[in-house]
Amino acid sequence: MRGGAQAHLIEADDGGFYVVKFRNNPQHRRILVNEWIASVFLRYLGILTPETQIVSLSSEFLRDNPEVSLQFGTKTVSIPPGWHFGSRYPGHPDRIAVYDFLPDALLQKVENLDHFAGTLVLDKWMGNADARQSIFLRAQLKEWNLNKTHPARKGFVAIMIDHGYVFDGPQWTFSDSPLQGLYFRPLVYRGVRSEESFEPWLSRVSTFPEEVMDEAWRQIPKEWLDGDEDELELLLTKLLRRRKNLPAYLRDSAKARTHPFPDWR
Ligand SMILES: Nc1ncnc2c1ncn2[C@@H]1O[C@H](COP(=O)(O)OP(=O)(O)O)[C@@H](O)[C@H]1O
Ligand SMILES: [Mg+2]
Repeated sequence: MRGGAQAHLIEADDGGFYVVKFRNNPQHRRILVNEWIASVFLRYLGILTPETQIVSLSSEFLRDNPEVSLQFGTKTVSIPPGWHFGSRYPGHPDRIAVYDFLPDALLQKVENLDHFAGTLVLDKWMGNADARQSIFLRAQLKEWNLNKTHPARKGFVAIMIDHGYVFDGPQWTFSDSPLQGLYFRPLVYRGVRSEESFEPWLSRVSTFPEEVMDEAWRQIPKEWLDGDEDELELLLTKLLRRRKNLPAYLRDSAKARTHPFPDWR
């Protein structure tokens, strides 16, 4: 797949296809931890994001599929067997078309466009140092829990991906610059007029259950942490404490020179 982490699309034995980021990816091992925690949190908030799995790659599989490897400059680097991060492709890649970008004319018709405002709350909270990324596909809305009154209706849905740079990526800090974490098209924030436009997500974060955080933490494989256990604990403690600053972070973004929220008063 395109992108700095050099993810690979791999069919797993549960029948699913996964975009897999490896422990020794060119960005950092911690990227996998970031992806995992952000995915659990997004699901809790009710924002669409792919199903995630911890994918086991055996030495036999890696031996038989040498193209599953990484490229560091001119050097080919093999993948260690064991646990890696998998983001599930929504369906069969030969039958379901997934787009990285939509032109504005289609983007404005995306059924869950409000999820971009919701995701910004998460990205500000978790200090995503990257721009927001999502994939798009045309699907039956009920399959994505979007429209239960018209079960057969189809439309474009946005699914949030690539949370590797929350916590400032490998740094595990919070840099909180007003422009970070935003999607590159302001159109997705249409209708954002004030802090209240970030409800119900702001409230959900302010009452975020520690159990959800603990559960995400417990699911992380030991090999992904490799001595980072204490630092992660510290980071998550800081994360709980910064929830009160969220409205201020959002206001800072609203005032930014690029006017990311066109309708903000
Ligand atoms: N769950 C998914 N389903 C379909 N395509 C995906 C999924 N996750 C990632 N991709 C595709 O793989 C590319 C690389 O994934 P991404 O998470 O953006 O990695 P990177 O950190 O390298 O940018 C994305 O641009 C997107 O096209
Ligand atoms: Mg990406």
